[in-house]
Amino acid sequence: MSSSITRQNFDEWMIPVYAPAPFIPVRAERSTLWDQQGKSYIDFAGGIAVNALGHANPELRKALEEQAGKLWHTGNGYTNEPILRLAKQLIDATFADRVFFCNSGAEANEAALKLARKYAHDVYGPQKSGIVAFKNAFHGRTLFTVTAGGQPAYSQDFAPLPPDISHAVYNDLQSAAALIDDNTCAVIVEPIQGEGGVVPAEPAFLKGLRELCDRHNALLIFDEVQTGVGRTGSLYAYMHYGVTPDVLSTAKALGGGFPIGAMLTREQFSRSMTVGTHGTTYGGNPLAGAVAGKVLDIVNTPDVLNGVKQRHDAIVEHIDAINRKHNLFKAVRGVGLLMGCVLSDNYAGRAKELLQLAAEEGAMVLIAGANVVRFAPSLIISDDEIGVGLERFARACERFVAKAPS
Ligand SMILES: Cc1ncc(COP(=O)(O)O)c(C=O)c1O
Repeated sequence: MSSSITRQNFDEWMIPVYAPAPFIPVRAERSTLWDQQGKSYIDFAGGIAVNALGHANPELRKALEEQAGKLWHTGNGYTNEPILRLAKQLIDATFADRVFFCNSGAEANEAALKLARKYAHDVYGPQKSGIVAFKNAFHGRTLFTVTAGGQPAYSQDFAPLPPDISHAVYNDLQSAAALIDDNTCAVIVEPIQGEGGVVPAEPAFLKGLRELCDRHNALLIFDEVQTGVGRTGSLYAYMHYGVTPDVLSTAKALGGGFPIGAMLTREQFSRSMTVGTHGTTYGGNPLAGAVAGKVLDIVNTPDVLNGVKQRHDAIVEHIDAINRKHNLFKAVRGVGLLMGCVLSDNYAGRAKELLQLAAEEGAMVLIAGANVVRFAPSLIISDDEIGVGLERFARACERFVAKAPS
């Protein structure tokens, strides 16, 4: 089957909102993928910070296969055991005592923003509808979340946009303070801006947002779609920062590759979301619940969480060695296994080219904007895979610097 399908079919059959790589991966194990021609790739992209436990993880496969033999889907007229177990795991592991399940990060943020508006309207009145978000943020592609995201290129063609959403400058508390007032119902922020360039928040910035939200009775929403489920070496990045939100969105790594999203909050805020106010057919699907439950079991252990820091250090060491030779990156930033290598000014704007060369050499990386090469690998990527993958990446860097500027 796979041999009769080619990359060209994508251009023929698909609505071209993506520009996928010229090869098609067909198989993967741990942090190695193989394409249709049998060429191997070491995976530092992790399906965009999703495959937290690598590919075809035997324990996740077992959880999925066991559940597949029992019950796939019932719709939300019925609940099920795996999703209730997962809810309790999340409650036990975090600040939250209520959970809503959905299928993606955008949906988790959509639910968070709707909850914030509904809660504020119910408790304080319709004037309290303001949402403060941040420039360069990314919260998903629904109309509400793309408007909250601070990248006009993703929203401007879809006007009219949902009103009463304003954007402050990330890591600039003064600029946030100027927008937050008693009519603000929520502040939504990524503890580390992922798509926006892997920019970690300053601890004082998040603390300051917490205080501003408390002062103005606004809900503090942490978008942990990219930073959650062990990526920073803490189960959630709010734990790393010591600042607790009122609402948290999680997705991506939660399912380890199986689609699931969740919004976590406290009971007092969840009360506004009564029967019929929100929902989705697949939210809380037992297959997703079974896999995500196993992901949490494995990730939320000292072994895996402590391993994140070791792997971060190993990757930094390799990148530093590349940099001593080529002076390619002006900074390596990020926390745990969400890392961004910022291109030096003389290579500005060319991150995608380096990504393409890395793929040619057999290493998958991500970009985060035009200037940042992003690494978001499996939390359990092996030393060998790191070593081989960064050797390949080093060859790509060598070719990149040797190339004439485009
Ligand atoms: C911080 C953040 N929020 C939300 C999203 C959207 O998630 P999804 O693509 O699952 O809708 C992303 C995806 O990259 C993200 O990084």
